[in-house]
Amino acid sequence: MNFNLRQLEAQETPFYYYDTQLLRTTLAALDAARAGEEHIHVHYAVKANARPELLRIILAAGLGADCVSGGEVRAALEAGFPAESIVFAGVGKADWELRLALEAGIGMFNVESLPELQRISELAVEMGKMARIALRINPNVDAHTHEKITTGLNENKFGLAMEDMLEAVREAERLEGVSYEGLHFHIGSSILDLGVFARLCERINELQDVLEKEGIVTRNINVGGGLGTHYEDPDVHPIPDFIGYMDTFRKYLNLRPGQHLHVEPGRSVVAQCGMLVSRVLYEKQGHEKKFLILDAGFTDLIRPALYNAHHLIQNLSSADQTATERYDVVGPICESSDVFQTQAPLPPSKRGDLIAFRTAGAYGEVMASQYNLRRLPGAVFDEQQN
Ligand code: LLP
Repeated sequence: MNFNLRQLEAQETPFYYYDTQLLRTTLAALDAARAGEEHIHVHYAVKANARPELLRIILAAGLGADCVSGGEVRAALEAGFPAESIVFAGVGKADWELRLALEAGIGMFNVESLPELQRISELAVEMGKMARIALRINPNVDAHTHEKITTGLNENKFGLAMEDMLEAVREAERLEGVSYEGLHFHIGSSILDLGVFARLCERINELQDVLEKEGIVTRNINVGGGLGTHYEDPDVHPIPDFIGYMDTFRKYLNLRPGQHLHVEPGRSVVAQCGMLVSRVLYEKQGHEKKFLILDAGFTDLIRPALYNAHHLIQNLSSADQTATERYDVVGPICESSDVFQTQAPLPPSKRGDLIAFRTAGAYGEVMASQYNLRRLPGAVFDEQQN
């Protein structure tokens, strides 16, 4: 990641810094991994980062959008994503969200229950529209990731159970206002073990056999998102393994002739191009340890407090990066969970130093809140945005 320290020092903290050049390089790598195969469609998962400046760059790289709320559908449309390139998932789509998406004529509703299917049908008929739908199936494949970001197990609230698949397809074919176009899956996030995607493929192959035996034609297979990125060493691995990821589907997924493959990467596209930058307010000597108290807290980056997530912490102001100190790096929020990392190795740090949390482009700014009536973090870019 590139940045100009002078530029960062001139900003009010905390803020998110985005290296849009790195985003472009990442998108180019993703495009290369797709290798011009026209049946592969990439929909960026807007939930990872909905900054309009980034959405425009992602759109220009030819990606579609994956949304999980009416607000995201609107943001994608406003950024200029063609409606047909938008897919819309979520277990609890409200009427206004469904109406918005129907009105816009989005590419696909990823439907997560029979009552939702029925509601889409009712609204589509009422509005004189036809909704293209994919059924989200819970494949009961363990993503072996953090329990709070695992979605594809029987115990999770997402999708339809496999045993309900046939009934749901028949219902979709019977109902007016909806047309059955495909299957959707998403098993979890932050997945670095590509074998997990191979197991998903095997499960999809089995389900496709079941549908084929019944003479049901499935045009689209959407395998969701989930590819992880390296949080420990972002400078060594700035670009995720998109080639390995795509090759896994090429190798293990038995696509039928004419079928389209859809993927929905979020984290892997934007995580490395962003970092949260804050300032040291105080260095405090505790009973047995030192605290580094920052002006950023979990309202700015909640991942460590919520998932015990690790972000590499760096002192950008220190000329000598040798980590000779250990600090509990904490925020100013009145909650004991407002701790970014305990015993973080850092160079000696003092009031005013800039502290960066790397790999924060995904699920960072977009999850910020105003708890304690704090200000939302700002955003700074490597180049002028227009
Ligand atoms: N598609 C669906 C249906 C999803 O639910 C998600 C993420 C994605 C795609 C994108 O997954 P990705 O490629 O980013 O792994 N806030 C958590 C992550 C939650 C992910 C939710 N779903 C975190 O900070 O780790």
